[in-house]
Amino acid sequence: MLHLSFRAAALLLFCLVFRQFSVSAEGNQHPGKERGSSPGRYDPTWESLDKRPNPTWFDEAKFGIFLHWGVFSVPALVNEWFWEAWKGGNKEAVDFMEKNFPPDYTYQDFGRDFHASFFDPYAWTKIFEEAGAKYIVLTSKHHEGYTMWPSKYSFSWNAMDVGPGRDLVGELAAAVRNSSKLHFGLYHSMFEWFHPLYLEDKANGYHTRHFPEAKALPELYEIVNAYRPDVIWSDGEWEASSDYWNSTGFISWLYNDSPVKDTVVTNDRWGNDTRCKHGGFLTCEDSFDPGQLIPKKWENCLTVDSHSWGYRRNMDIADIRSAQELIRALARAVSCGGNLLLNVGPTADGKIAAVFQERLRQIGSWLDVNGEAIYSTRPWIYQNDTVNSDVWYSCSKDNSTVYAIYLRASGANITLGAPTFSKQTSVQVFGSDKFLKWTTDVKGHIVVKLPPRHELPDPAAWSVVLQLTNLKNKPTENPFKITAGTRPEVASLWRNEKFAKN
Ligand SMILES: *[C@@H]1O[C@H](CO)[C@@H](O)[C@H](O)[C@H]1NC(C)=O
Ligand SMILES: *[C@@H]1O[C@H](CO)[C@@H](O)[C@H](O)[C@H]1NC(C)=O
Ligand SMILES: *[C@@H]1O[C@H](CO)[C@@H](O)[C@H](O)[C@H]1NC(C)=O
Ligand SMILES: *[C@@H]1O[C@H](CO)[C@@H](O)[C@H](O)[C@H]1NC(C)=O
Ligand SMILES: *[C@@H]1O[C@H](CO)[C@@H](O)[C@H](O)[C@H]1NC(C)=O
Ligand SMILES: *[C@@H]1O[C@H](CO)[C@@H](O)[C@H](O)[C@H]1NC(C)=O
Repeated sequence: MLHLSFRAAALLLFCLVFRQFSVSAEGNQHPGKERGSSPGRYDPTWESLDKRPNPTWFDEAKFGIFLHWGVFSVPALVNEWFWEAWKGGNKEAVDFMEKNFPPDYTYQDFGRDFHASFFDPYAWTKIFEEAGAKYIVLTSKHHEGYTMWPSKYSFSWNAMDVGPGRDLVGELAAAVRNSSKLHFGLYHSMFEWFHPLYLEDKANGYHTRHFPEAKALPELYEIVNAYRPDVIWSDGEWEASSDYWNSTGFISWLYNDSPVKDTVVTNDRWGNDTRCKHGGFLTCEDSFDPGQLIPKKWENCLTVDSHSWGYRRNMDIADIRSAQELIRALARAVSCGGNLLLNVGPTADGKIAAVFQERLRQIGSWLDVNGEAIYSTRPWIYQNDTVNSDVWYSCSKDNSTVYAIYLRASGANITLGAPTFSKQTSVQVFGSDKFLKWTTDVKGHIVVKLPPRHELPDPAAWSVVLQLTNLKNKPTENPFKITAGTRPEVASLWRNEKFAKN
């Protein structure tokens, strides 16, 4: 008890949590107020919608699982853009179709072979929980237009009418809610490559809005009302403006009046004017990893198969990201105020490939030991160490403990430049009860002596996480200080040319 209250008294000095994060996580601003409308309501403008604080669960969750599943999982070749690749002359797709299918075979014909025979949503939920994830995001509809739920707006091109004959979205939502604490989220593509109404609007220079009125928007309202997702992960937005999609109209309903108004978070892909600028959290480009603190909540969506979001039957082990690489991405994201949304593509049979399961378990095992340094933490005043490029920091919510996530624990010591130790500083490594000894080297850096390998729960561990308490660091020492409320540098981190492909 005494130890705790000492910690509590000391804690204020030790952590500076970037102000914007406390505002976006717990703020109680009511943007409607200053605009003269009723308090707590949002206007259908980006200015108003951007002021909504994200529900706290999202920042605390840190780690989610992304699932790209659809008819594209049947050819399961090239990537989830198979239809577009085939029609666009991609050699691998064209050759595959010529060799294996009659000339009149259509992409829609693949729908019949989307059986999901082994789909067990409870088994999936168990896999996600064992991975240590706190939320999942399923593709409710990708650019192919096939809806994974029996949509009223996708006649004969949905999972009930063609293929499984099941409501895949509904079944997964029910299993997740029945058997876990995971938050359930949905991906939704605004555009569809080949939808006639979309192509008509496109031909009209987007001066007509037949497609969003008849398809994209009704679907969005339908999935929110039917499945109450806590994440709407929008995509396929980039060819037209957010006015064309009426994104602000939809999001204002989502935040003001929808059944998930208090729990839902949204991303930034709502029109060609929004990415990396507007919405609940920023995704900027796929695999976004800024490597520094940025002044708004963000998420790195990263795929385990480095070549595809959808399942590929011809993937090789060399294409699969290692557990180290994935945990590194998680640590970097958490240090810099982001989340990691890690993608696996289920098969058309409804299985999550064993190699993906293995990666998820590896992350889960790491989180079993080191999760305290991840979940519900805040960015510290330093994100990475000043002398040791393999150390990334986080800070406990109560400011009492700084976590040093060392991603290359090969030697017997760790040298650290960022923390300033005091006589009271204690150092422990997750997985061991012992307090570690430390000294100062000639340059004034801290050298922490690690326990012998055999004393760690996993002697083969390639990473260790230190818990540091009672540091002397003061908030003014923040080297990455960013003025709260500004976000000019975010857009400059975003390389415009890269995301068009994804
Ligand atoms: C942690 O530190 C930050 C920055 O000084 C402060 O805003 C926050 O209130 C502190 N949290 C607690 C629980 O003391
Ligand atoms: C699981 O979810 C379904 C669909 O929402 C529901 O009918 C069923 O009662 C739930 N089962 C349990 C054990 O909660
Ligand atoms: C965004 O889309 C609109 C059509 O809705 C188009 O007129 C405009 O030129 C696009 N802007 C950019 C920057 O591509
Ligand atoms: C956009 O959506 C809002 C909310 O549903 C609606 O009130 C508004 O009329 C829509 N705007 C257009 C141009 O359709
Ligand atoms: C910390 O990260 C920043 C941004 O990635 C980088 O510029 C800097 O070199 C890193 N510092 C160290 C010591 O690796
Ligand atoms: C670790 O540090 C201790 C003292 O701080 C030193 O004696 C020892 O040589 C170091 N070991 C390695 C492998 O650097």
